[in-house]
Amino acid sequence: MQNTVQAKPIAPYLGGKSKLAKTICSIIDNTEHKTYAEPFVGMGGILFRKEKPAKAEIINDYNYEVFTLFRVLQRHYDEFLNQLEYINHSRNHFKYLKDLNPTHLTDIERAARFYYLLRASFGAMASTYGVDKTRPDRFNINKYKKDLAHTVNRLRSVAMENLDFEDFIKKYDSKDTLFYLDPPYYGCENDYGKELFRREDFERIRSTLDSIQGKFILSLNDLPPVREIFKGYYIKEVELLYTVAKNGNKKAKEVIISNYPLD
Ligand SMILES: C[S@@+](CC[C@H](N)C(=O)[O-])C[C@H]1O[C@@H](n2cnc3c(N)ncnc32)[C@H](O)[C@@H]1O
Repeated sequence: MQNTVQAKPIAPYLGGKSKLAKTICSIIDNTEHKTYAEPFVGMGGILFRKEKPAKAEIINDYNYEVFTLFRVLQRHYDEFLNQLEYINHSRNHFKYLKDLNPTHLTDIERAARFYYLLRASFGAMASTYGVDKTRPDRFNINKYKKDLAHTVNRLRSVAMENLDFEDFIKKYDSKDTLFYLDPPYYGCENDYGKELFRREDFERIRSTLDSIQGKFILSLNDLPPVREIFKGYYIKEVELLYTVAKNGNKKAKEVIISNYPLD
C-alpha cells in the first residue's frame, strides 16, 4: 500500500469519531488488506483520516442525504459550490431548509441543503441554528473550500453505496476485505432517523459478521449488552475524555471489537 495525504471529514457529524480516529486509523493502516469497506460511513471521520489508501475502497450509508452529498461532491463539485456561494444564511432560511421535504429538490440542491444544515447548526446534526455571540458567524463557504477540494480529490477513486449494512457487507466480503463498522451507539439507535436502525440490528451485525471471510473492526460504546452480543470476538477497551461544559470533562469508555488480534 502506498502512502497518501490525509483529508478532512466533509462536515461535523454526530459520532464523527474525532476522539477515536487516531487509534482506529492506526489499526487500519497496520492491517494487511486489499479492499477497505465502510458500511456506516457518515461524514467519513475514518476514511478521510487514515493514511494509506487500499487498492479498492467502498463506502456506504443508508441515509440518502449522506449518499447524495458524497455523489454530488464526486460528480458536480462546481455546481455544488455555486449553490452555496450566495446562500441566504439566516435563521429563517435555516428553518425553511430544515423543514423542507428534500425529495422535491434536485440532487445538487439536496446535497447543498444537507451540507449547509450540518455546517450552520450547533451539535453537528443539522438540527439547531448555530450562532455564538463570542465567535465569527458560522457559515462561509470560502472558509471550507480548500479542505473540501482536498477531500473531494481523495474521493475520486472511492465507490459509494446506499445499502442496508447487511447487504453491503455480503456484497463486498472477501478474504482480502477489511471492514470498519461505526454503527449508531447502543441506546442511540434513532439518532440518525427512526427507520434506519433498530436495537435488534446489533444482533444482525453480529450474525452478518459471523459469516464473513474478511477482517472487521467495530467501534461501540462499552456497555454490558454490547459485550454480551459480541462475546467471543477480541474486545479492546478505550477510554476517551469528552468536554461537556466550558470547564468540565467526562470520561467515556468505548470498545473496539475485532475478529483478529489488535496488539
Ligand atoms: C455513528 S454514524 C457514523 C459516523 C462516521 N464514522 C463519521 O465519522 O462520520 C452511523 C451512520 O450509520 C448510518 N446508518 C444507520 N443505519 C444504517 C443501516 N441500516 N445501514 C447502513 N448505514 C446505516 C447513519 O446514517 C449514520 O450516518
